[in-house]
Amino acid sequence: MSDALVQQGLAVERVDNAARAENDPWLSAVARGFLEEEPGEVRREAFVGHTAHRRKLGVYDATSPQPEIPVATFASWPSELTVPGGSVAASAISAVTVAPTHRRRGILRALMAGELRTAAALGLPVAVLTVSESTIYGRFGFGSAATVANWDIRVRRAGWIGPEAPGRVDFISREQARELAEALHERVRASSAGEIALPEGHLNRFFGTSPDAEKAERLRTIQYRSPAGEVDGIAVYRVVENPDDFSESTLELSWLLAATDDAYAGLWRFLLEMDLIGRLRASELAVDEPLWWMIADQRAATITITDHEYVRILDVPGALASRRFGAADTIALEVDDPLGIAGGTFVLTTDADGGAVVDAVEAPPANAPVVRLGIRELSSLLLGTVSAVTLARAGRIEADDPTRIARVFQTTEAPRLSFWY
Ligand SMILES: CC(C)(COP(=O)(O)OP(=O)(O)OC[C@H]1O[C@@H](n2cnc3c(N)ncnc32)[C@H](O)[C@@H]1OP(=O)(O)O)[C@@H](O)C(=O)NCCC(=O)NCCS
Repeated sequence: MSDALVQQGLAVERVDNAARAENDPWLSAVARGFLEEEPGEVRREAFVGHTAHRRKLGVYDATSPQPEIPVATFASWPSELTVPGGSVAASAISAVTVAPTHRRRGILRALMAGELRTAAALGLPVAVLTVSESTIYGRFGFGSAATVANWDIRVRRAGWIGPEAPGRVDFISREQARELAEALHERVRASSAGEIALPEGHLNRFFGTSPDAEKAERLRTIQYRSPAGEVDGIAVYRVVENPDDFSESTLELSWLLAATDDAYAGLWRFLLEMDLIGRLRASELAVDEPLWWMIADQRAATITITDHEYVRILDVPGALASRRFGAADTIALEVDDPLGIAGGTFVLTTDADGGAVVDAVEAPPANAPVVRLGIRELSSLLLGTVSAVTLARAGRIEADDPTRIARVFQTTEAPRLSFWY
């Protein structure tokens, strides 16, 4: 256990996933940390079920008037992160809270340092999380790795110029959509850098199919079926009426999963051409959505870009060798890791097929261009969300030849993570 916490009289305990008596106060602390209301019985019961696979930690203060409620929470579980052309085992982190009564005493620092060292010791090459605030995790070596786009489209102005999808769109029940979603997400995530395996419980939340679902009756679910009869896409949305003008309602799209280009075109066109809808809002889209090239009036869409998923490399050879690269070359990386987990000097040799060999070395070889960078910046380069040229121009990395480094790391599509966890 961290000395910093022991000195404060605090104890870190693992929550027994089978014990409601431990899960209930832990969930109370998480809800309070995220400014939510006190969870009711139905949510508590559902929570135990869908977080049974998570490693939950609580920090307890025996001198508190409610000693059973942890003053800090932290959860993680082994997951899989899609990287360009492959995937890598990852520690997914969630439910990070410290009570306002105990903030800024180093509790998060102690928990995170412990988590990252544990994950590295377990052989997980990266840790991943989505963030409430951009400024929290950089100090622990996390780099902004999948940027996402939030769209607000005036649909009548957009004008569909995309292809005509040959299949059909039908309404399905929320339960049917939930049944289809898992396999569809597996298909989508295999080729979408930034996605992780869907955490348990997410599908029920997305489709309002668990007993604690709120306002589930507002959700509408559709599927796209190819002429061959294969369901290749689904979407879930809700409509918010405009009380001043019934024909100017807003469609809020919460998730669109398309495993083929036809399904993508079919579902988006359906959503953009619905009667009584004036605006469509969607979040956690890719920054390079083909949709932008499927509408006649690109200014019909107001697009806001935001950081979303952060990655922390814990093992440089393990993380880099898991992905495919954009050019054959040999480059040297001098990686600084303030937490002393993954730093060092490495030679990355890539081949024409995108494969890579990564060797830890004492010093960079004389004939290879060197890039000197922090673990945070290398973590941002992993998924291809930013070019090494951009990072060099921003003063975030030092490279002998930024263009050569950028060609090696370049990817054909922007990474994206389509949900929060
Ligand atoms: C974010 C949170 C977990 C931080 O916990 P904490 O125990 O107060 O953090 P620590 O005392 O260990 O701080 C560690 C470092 O992070 C910094 N930090 C902590 N919270 C920060 C924040 N919200 N924004 C920016 N920096 C922050 C501290 O200044 C400190 O910096 P330093 O060590 O470089 O001087 C806590 O404020 C919280 O629960 N917030 C509400 C819930 C939330 O947003 N959780 C994150 C979900 S992704």
